[in-house]
Amino acid sequence: MANEGMALAGRVALVTGAGRGIGRAIALRLARDGARLIVHHSASAAGAAESCAMIADAGGEAIALRADIARREDVKAMFAAIDHGFGRLDIVVNSAGVSAGGPLEQVEEDQLEWLLGVNLRGPLFVASEAARRLGEGGRIINLSSSLAKFPIAGSGIYSATKAALESFTESWAKELGARGITVNTVIPGATAPGMAERTLAQWRAIFEKASPFGRIGTAVEIAEVVAFLASPAASWVSGAHILANGAANA
Ligand SMILES: NC(=O)c1ccc[n+]([C@@H]2O[C@H](COP(=O)([O-])OP(=O)(O)OC[C@H]3O[C@@H](n4cnc5c(N)ncnc54)[C@H](OP(=O)(O)O)[C@@H]3O)[C@@H](O)[C@H]2O)c1
Repeated sequence: MANEGMALAGRVALVTGAGRGIGRAIALRLARDGARLIVHHSASAAGAAESCAMIADAGGEAIALRADIARREDVKAMFAAIDHGFGRLDIVVNSAGVSAGGPLEQVEEDQLEWLLGVNLRGPLFVASEAARRLGEGGRIINLSSSLAKFPIAGSGIYSATKAALESFTESWAKELGARGITVNTVIPGATAPGMAERTLAQWRAIFEKASPFGRIGTAVEIAEVVAFLASPAASWVSGAHILANGAANA
């Protein structure tokens, strides 16, 4: 699939959580631009194999690698496999993330550790390994949530992890800009396929009404924004947080 005319020809991209949801749409989109893909997954081995098959069917190249991103040793092993299989890395998309919530009076430590592990430790460990490998023109793209900007009752921990991730973006952009690497955040609103689906019965009408478009977003629409940030065209965009939520106020 990759030829010199494609924006990401010759590049290698890692997308975390690419066995389903938004991560899968991003992996497929970057492959369409000519990148060779590492489709990361944790529990969704079958989903990751399916993402790789979809990329191959479209003429691209992808391999699946597993890691619990909350565990540093898992992340290190995944990067060792990337070194072995590709010998280079150009684009890293931190899409894997989990959401949960509940009343302040009932904070559960297990839930807190889970959200901190996947949403904060994970992107941090991934970016730390990536920082050792990315060169001039490298890209790190973090997936936040509109709930960081518009928290709702019960979303406190999830919203805080995503607000902290945006803070990481700004710090990493300052640190890595000196090496020609950009770091940005994409901020989806409610999006399907993806985690919003699992609460849609209850929340869909609220999410739809929150946008003047009267609908929720699609994973493909989020992937388009990521593809721009991953491209050479976005060389001067760094430390930015791009809201992709159809002007919703929630
Ligand atoms: N969909 C939305 O409405 C929405 C809105 C705002 C922001 N976002 C953000 O967008 C990103 C993608 O969300 P999504 O909707 O695609 O979510 P999703 O469909 O619920 O998928 C979650 C992803 O996170 C991965 N993951 C979970 N625990 C993991 C762990 N311990 N280690 C490694 N990976 C793990 C899962 O991989 P496995 O299945 O392989 O375990 C899966 O690919 C997230 O950061 C989310 O916070 C989503």
